[in-house]
Amino acid sequence: MLDLGLQEKVAIVTGGSDGLGRATVERFAREGVRVAVCARRREHLDQIVASLQQQTGGELLPISMDVTDAPDCERAVQETVERFGRVDILVNNAGASAAGGFESVTDEDWLADIELKVMGAVRMCRHSIPVMRANGGGSIVNATIGGAKAPAAEALPTTVTRAAGINLTKSLANEYAADNIRVNTICIGLIKSAQWERRAQGGSMDQFYADMAKRIPLGRVGEAAEYADLVAYLCSKSGSYITGTSINLDGGLCAVD
Ligand SMILES: NC(=O)c1ccc[n+]([C@@H]2O[C@H](COP(=O)([O-])OP(=O)(O)OC[C@H]3O[C@@H](n4cnc5c(N)ncnc54)[C@H](OP(=O)(O)O)[C@@H]3O)[C@@H](O)[C@H]2O)c1
Repeated sequence: MLDLGLQEKVAIVTGGSDGLGRATVERFAREGVRVAVCARRREHLDQIVASLQQQTGGELLPISMDVTDAPDCERAVQETVERFGRVDILVNNAGASAAGGFESVTDEDWLADIELKVMGAVRMCRHSIPVMRANGGGSIVNATIGGAKAPAAEALPTTVTRAAGINLTKSLANEYAADNIRVNTICIGLIKSAQWERRAQGGSMDQFYADMAKRIPLGRVGEAAEYADLVAYLCSKSGSYITGTSINLDGGLCAVD
């Protein structure tokens, strides 16, 4: 049995109230990780955190914040340290789909996606890294996509901003290895989550996912728990020799490693 060694660690998970982030919070809580759960909608966040707390018995701190807001990012790390005394793990998971044809993407669209996916992660890392360094190390996982390595047509601006996320991952992994801070990225394909439930607009989710699965070599859409398992492994003692990697989690969808 893998000993993840995550007991008593402290994690910040952005976008922790739905989908992949929520599954990650649940996984961490079951491993004894204390988690700051970050998302914008206060009421929804409080509701999810209360229910996860009840299911897992975990110690969770809801923080209503927006990763596109610089002071919010600083406050989220501060509140985590005030409550739990440290930060060992940061999962930069908050994000949203933004895929269109080049000529349809405005300057505002480009800048909004850079704020959300690049600057959100940059700011959360900026405030968390000094705290991790003072603790003797830590682990950061950034959510990105396979399309960042092998962009399809009409998938902008996200393929570009996610490519920046892969570069940020590698840059920080190199810079902070000496501080025992590991940085990895998961290149997500298609995984069941609240964003797809919204997209299906009340239609049958089974049918929606079955249609999606036709494009995937393994023939199925991934489960949020599979993402959470990989995040937990990357942040664990068992994953302690892994840094600077980008791991596809996509049932074989991405054409390149
Ligand atoms: N599921 C997939 O197939 C898939 C594919 C490729 C990439 N991804 C990436 O994986 C990550 C998780 O996606 P998901 O599918 O789980 O999405 P989701 O179900 O829509 O959940 C998104 C979470 O992020 C929060 N969030 C969104 N914008 C935020 C912001 N500006 N500041 C703070 N929190 C924010 C949301 O809560 P609030 O709305 O309350 O803020 C929610 O908790 C995202 O980065 C997404 O782009 C997912």
